[in-house]
Amino acid sequence: MSFDRLAPHYRWIEALFAGERLQRCRTALLDAISPPRNVLIYGEGNGRFLVELLRRFPHTQTTVVDSSGTMIDLARMRLKREGLADAKVQFIQADALVWQPQTSSFDLIVTCFFLDCFREDQLQQLIPVIAGGATSDAQWLVADFQIASSGLRRWRSRMIVGLLYVFFRFATRLPGWRLIDPAPCLRAAGFTCEQQTEHDHGMLYSSWWAR
Ligand SMILES: C[S@@+](CC[C@H](N)C(=O)[O-])C[C@H]1O[C@@H](n2cnc3c(N)ncnc32)[C@H](O)[C@@H]1O
Repeated sequence: MSFDRLAPHYRWIEALFAGERLQRCRTALLDAISPPRNVLIYGEGNGRFLVELLRRFPHTQTTVVDSSGTMIDLARMRLKREGLADAKVQFIQADALVWQPQTSSFDLIVTCFFLDCFREDQLQQLIPVIAGGATSDAQWLVADFQIASSGLRRWRSRMIVGLLYVFFRFATRLPGWRLIDPAPCLRAAGFTCEQQTEHDHGMLYSSWWAR
């Protein structure tokens, strides 16, 4: 699985098919959380969330783990363009299924459109590992797709999410092939959902979890 080939096209594809909707979903709860000191972002991609995080919390220390070197290069370039080259950000190119965070170190975990990359068995392995890096008072921001609850919205989201999986599996060899709700694993790791908002007719959600 690699996002390297897709990375240079990710931004225009997002702009064409989703406009600003994904970005609104990524950043929807940034104003709700307590200011973090040490942030761990998984699968940040090309850096759009990271820029907004650093604008709001310029003194935060941030670690970004992404398996795509090209995505990391794009995120670094974005920081430079936005005048944030001096921000305290460490980029780590690694497979999240292998890399282990330092125990009880991060007070904010962020996963935007990342947990949907994995199969259920992988998520059951991954979420406890990520949670092991979280402090006892940590927060966790999740932004992702979901299947809307009912009616036409449900059919619409099923169709779009299904097409997205076909596309991403072809373009990146993504292991996941259907949406898995991460909520049970987050609860099992000691997190409680503080707030959740829906976007785009219920097909996107942002949730803020805390210990
Ligand atoms: C669908 S993109 C989401 C990017 C961005 N967070 C967003 O909101 O659009 C998934 C990101 O996770 C990274 N990724 C996927 N699987 C990964 C893994 N096993 N370990 C680390 N990063 C991974 C990809 O390289 C990519 O940057």
